[in-house]
Amino acid sequence: MAARFIRKIAPTTRSGVAQYSTGVRRVTLIPGHGIGPEITVAVQKIFEAAKVPIEWDEVDVTAVRGPDGKFGIPQKAIDSVNANKIGLKGPLMTPVGKGYRSLNLALRKEFDLYANVRPCKSLEGIKTLYDNVDVVTIRENTEGEYSGIEHEIVDGVVQSIKLITEEASKRVAEFAFQFARDNKRKKVTAVHKANIMRMSDGLFLRCCRELATKYPDIRFEERYLDTVCLNMVQDPSKFDVLVMPNLYGDIMSDMCSGLVGGLGLTPSGNIGKNGALFESVHGTAPSIAGQDKANPTALLLSGVMMLRHLQLPQHANAIETACFTVLREGKVLTEDLGGNSTCSEYTAEIIRNLQ
Ligand SMILES: NC(=O)c1ccc[n+]([C@@H]2O[C@H](COP(=O)([O-])OP(=O)(O)OC[C@H]3O[C@@H](n4cnc5c(N)ncnc54)[C@H](O)[C@@H]3O)[C@@H](O)[C@H]2O)c1
Repeated sequence: MAARFIRKIAPTTRSGVAQYSTGVRRVTLIPGHGIGPEITVAVQKIFEAAKVPIEWDEVDVTAVRGPDGKFGIPQKAIDSVNANKIGLKGPLMTPVGKGYRSLNLALRKEFDLYANVRPCKSLEGIKTLYDNVDVVTIRENTEGEYSGIEHEIVDGVVQSIKLITEEASKRVAEFAFQFARDNKRKKVTAVHKANIMRMSDGLFLRCCRELATKYPDIRFEERYLDTVCLNMVQDPSKFDVLVMPNLYGDIMSDMCSGLVGGLGLTPSGNIGKNGALFESVHGTAPSIAGQDKANPTALLLSGVMMLRHLQLPQHANAIETACFTVLREGKVLTEDLGGNSTCSEYTAEIIRNLQ
């Protein structure tokens, strides 16, 4: 899907991604926490059945205390992503309101994965309010409200800094326009609240406007976040590609995910100049972890995005077609989609449908 564009902004398979002379690529695999390990096994089984030429380099990403006393990503995982430049990642647990900072944020910062791409497209067989959703949210992934710059000024008063830079805003805006062009999309909408956050969102918006002038073939519009939320649930067909600061993108993409059937179905890619990590949009779903109930589709479709990034379109298409067939037939579905099959049964059904 984003393959053409991603080829331009990320290292190509030839120059960046580890590859053996046999054509086998080495890919970092982070199973993650909660349902992560079971959906990861499901994806591995389907990839194996589809004879995808990759070798997994599995690493654990559980917070470790560094010499400075701070918790962070294990060095082995950093080394693996640095060597392979590409990875598939399960969800990671983040402590709420205390403890260490999100390892997801740490990974995005560490590898400067500045654009988070989340395609949300209606799927045949999945009954939702609309059957014509086809939007891609592109979220700035490294700064904004998620910069993690927070402090207590005095007792009972805390401050959180939303950091917006010209450099980060321009590169994600450029990514969005180039993505639109490469994927034959017609319009980019910049989502903002520059009427309230005049300096920060104002800068983001100015950068989007500037980039828009370099892509005259792509329609550009700027809309307030609240209006986009309203219009999106009224008529999603009004939107195409959306680009926005970090927090807005996080919320908006979950909302779009709800319009196509939920978190269990939505894939994503975190793309940077030096690498890419593909992951499902959902979290660790602790209440169903270890029960063989999780839906592996989001991680599987993230894997399909990754295969296109690796320029393996035939394998990507074969797996995607098998998955879409099972969803369309609706006979073997996990509980979140109204079915009563297990993750293992759903996985086996996809494998049975591989051509
Ligand atoms: N990218 C990530 O690693 C990521 C993203 C979001 C949340 N998280 C973390 O995950 C943990 C739990 O977060 P949460 O409960 O807010 O969100 P969640 O996405 O884990 O769960 C939300 C709801 O969706 C269901 N669900 C999610 N994925 C599913 C799947 N594949 N199949 C079936 N049902 C599924 C869950 O059972 C739950 O009812 C937190 O620690 C959070 O920080 C991680």
